[in-house]
Order: sequence, then C-alpha cells, then structure tokens
Amino acid sequence: MHSFARELLTWYREHKRDLPWRGTRDAYAVWVSEVMLQQTRAETVVPYYLRWMRRFPTPASLARATEQQVMRLWEGLGYYRRALALRNGARQIMNEHGGSVPRDPASLARLPGVGSYTAAAVAAIAFDADEIALDGNLRRVLSRLSNLDRDPRRPEAERMLRQYARRKLPPGHAADFNQALMDLGALICVTREPRCGLCPVGAWCVARKKGLQAQRPVRGRSRRVPEHVATAGVIRRNGRVLIAKRPPGVLLGGLWEFPGGKRRSRESLHDCLRRELREELGVRVRVGERVGEIRHSYSHFGVTVYAFECRLLRGTPAALEHAAIHWAAPSRLKAYPMGFVARRIAQAVSARRKPPDNGRHR
Ligand code: ADE
Repeated sequence: MHSFARELLTWYREHKRDLPWRGTRDAYAVWVSEVMLQQTRAETVVPYYLRWMRRFPTPASLARATEQQVMRLWEGLGYYRRALALRNGARQIMNEHGGSVPRDPASLARLPGVGSYTAAAVAAIAFDADEIALDGNLRRVLSRLSNLDRDPRRPEAERMLRQYARRKLPPGHAADFNQALMDLGALICVTREPRCGLCPVGAWCVARKKGLQAQRPVRGRSRRVPEHVATAGVIRRNGRVLIAKRPPGVLLGGLWEFPGGKRRSRESLHDCLRRELREELGVRVRVGERVGEIRHSYSHFGVTVYAFECRLLRGTPAALEHAAIHWAAPSRLKAYPMGFVARRIAQAVSARRKPPDNGRHR
C-alpha cells in the first residue's frame, strides 16, 4: 500500500466521524445515505436518514410508499426530486434487480437520481469497487494535494483529479479511502483556513509546500444568482384554505403550496397576485391583509414571497396549472408535504385567528 494511503487510513480509523450509515454495508442503506448527502451536509442528513431507515428499511418497503409519504418524510431536506427518485429507484430495484441494489456503477447510474458521483460512491462504499466518488469536498482536497491550477469542476480537471486519486487508491479499500478523503475535507482540509498542521497527508500536499492552499481550489467565475419577488394567496372557504399541488418535474414538483407566483417588472404585489390567481385558478380575487413575508434561497436564485389573505370575487378555483387543488382545514396542513416557503405560510395560517370568512375584511 502506498504510504499516502496508509497514513490516510490510519488517521481515518482514529478520527472518522461517527455517522449512522458508517456501521453498515447494506447497499440499500448506502444508496439512501448517498442520495440524501447530495447537496446536503452530513449533520443535517443524520436525523432524516434514521427516520427514513426506520420507516423504509428495505427496497421492498420503499417501493410500496406513496409520493405523499416520501415527500413528507423528506420535508426540510431540500432538492425534493431526490425523494421521489429514491422511491422510483426502489421500484426499479424490485422489478429489474430482484430486490437488491445492483453492484456495478453502470447499473447504479441507471437508477433515477443517481449520477456518476452517487454511482461511484455506492459502488465504492457498499462494495469496495475501486472507484473515486468525486464530490465538492474531494475536489477541494484533491485540488490542494495535486496543486491543480484550474477550476476543478471543468471536465478535464475532473479527469485529472480522479486519475490522481485512483493512483493513490489501494485496491479493495475504496470504502474507507473515499470516506477518509471526505472526512479529511470536512475536518482538516476545510474551505477556509485549512488545518494543515493536523493533516495526516500534508507531506504529499503540493499546494501546501508552495503556500498556495488558500488559492486552491481555483474558483471559476462565480455566478451571481438572481433575486426574485413573488406573491402567494391564502384563499378561505368555510373555514378551510386552498392549497395547490405543484406538477411533477418542476422545482418543488409534487409539493403543496399556496398559489401565486413571480412578480413581473413594474408590477405591484397586488396586481401580481391577482394576475397569478387568474392564470393559475381562473378566479378573480380581492387582495386583503398581508399574512407573511418569507425570504428563502434556492440553489439558483433567492426569493422573497409576500403572502396575502384573498377574498374570492368571481369564479370557482380550478387546477389550471397545478396537478391538483385542495381545500384543507388549517389543522390538517401539517399532513401535506410542502417546501420551506409554503410551510412558513401554513404555520402562519394555522397560528392566526381565523379572519372573518370570505368577505368582511377588505
Ligand atoms: N458525503 C457524501 N457521502 C458521504 C459519506 N459517506 N460520509 C460522509 N459524508 C459524505
């Protein structure tokens, strides 16, 4: 074994993070954990992972789950498409792989929601296949070790980093090797002010030798994300409120929300909400009191949503752009899976004293 790997693995055995998916070689559990860990920090994932594995301990149990069940269990983890992808992947595993997660990266990559990173991670961690699972953490660690002089997200740079790591990977030890590099990135080789004095593989680190660790990884031009303003309407009838289910395949697809949408330039908030409710539900409303103002960041934009009570003036709401609409009792809103913004509005609605029914507020 290369002495780099020996030092790294010795450090890992002593310092590795105690994470619940580390105690298992069950490929299903590894797959679930790796999908949850896409875009999400390990500490955030832990309670979701434990709850999920209690509720759906096998591909067979997950394959039987409804969309609503998996979405509700996922709520708060973000990137909601992953939840349905897992459920659909479990169905594929039942139908095409006899109920067992496939071993080879190519079959893994055919599961919904599994890209090259996740396929490599599952193959390496569950089966010790000699793969490198290159995520953001590893890109940073490997960029410093090899002193990579370009943006590590570029395809040719990824190839170089993978090759670099593969040369150091001791065959048959990919589970520990990959996770050791992940933990090195999380504990020592952190983004800002890496703790080089504590690094078990500092002797191999070219960036450190040249004093360039703060300049690695090289950053590409950072994209500024747009900032939007949107509105949402709380429409009431007989003590219930109207919620609408977003169609599949869009951002937050399959989740419930209060209907509304993005403000156009030079449009007032009230005009925006009236227009959106006309387009989405085919109704005319009078916009009333403000219920809340919620700011949230998504991966590619930020948004501030202004929610208002609305009074129906004309028309019966129809799901013109949604998958479904529902009149829900405020006490039942908890049962519907929602994204961050809709959940905050739902909480405000549930906490509020019921306003005078349709109409008497202006
Ligand atoms: N991030 C992605 N996969 C991980 C794993 N197996 N352990 C810790 N952090 C991770």
